[in-house]
Amino acid sequence: MDLNSHIEKILWTDQEISQRVSELASQITQDFSTNSDSSSSSSAPIMVGVATGAFLFLADLVRKIQLPISVDFVRIESYGSGTVSCGKPKITCDLKIDVRDKHVIVVEDIVDTGSTLSFLIEYLKSKGSLSVSVCTLLNKPERRKVNFELVGSGKFYCGFECPDYFVVGYGLDFAELYRNLPYVGVLKPELYQ
Ligand code: IMP
Ligand code: MG
Repeated sequence: MDLNSHIEKILWTDQEISQRVSELASQITQDFSTNSDSSSSSSAPIMVGVATGAFLFLADLVRKIQLPISVDFVRIESYGSGTVSCGKPKITCDLKIDVRDKHVIVVEDIVDTGSTLSFLIEYLKSKGSLSVSVCTLLNKPERRKVNFELVGSGKFYCGFECPDYFVVGYGLDFAELYRNLPYVGVLKPELYQ
């Protein structure tokens, strides 16, 4: 099966993604270096990837950040196997690292309705994070239903503003497929409608 033939158009190539990931990593390195003792691991951020979608983005991003960061994952489920949300998000695999009094950067593949992110930010706040920032590869502001507020000095980093299409690749799936495509593209609607 050739997954490429299921893609209507490519929105961002692997080279474009790589370039943007480098820019985000430099920005994060710069922003978190200005913390008083950023060279110590106690004030460097914990990068929390939202599984599974953020796995490639997180892997590429952390290799370009020049700070003594830690890495963890959280799994939140609210989507079924299709393209529509089915209910309230819940944590199905929790963090391993204690985030109390730490700066956290949530790494997401895409912010769509905002429901997952607002739930996770509230969760990290309840766990005592010093600040919560968000670094998302894609953002679909037109689809927002739930607003979220960053915590403390938290910042919002975004790779690309995504038009309102269902997109796959570079970690993003449809029914657990297409995550391994090196680019982000629009899935042919006949494949999910
Ligand atoms: P939200 O809670 O509606 O913001 O959705 C968050 C999650 O839905 C993302 O982390 C993705 O896993 C998934 N999602 C939303 N839009 C898309 C898309 O266009 N393609 C693939 N997954 C998506
Ligand atoms: Mg996700």
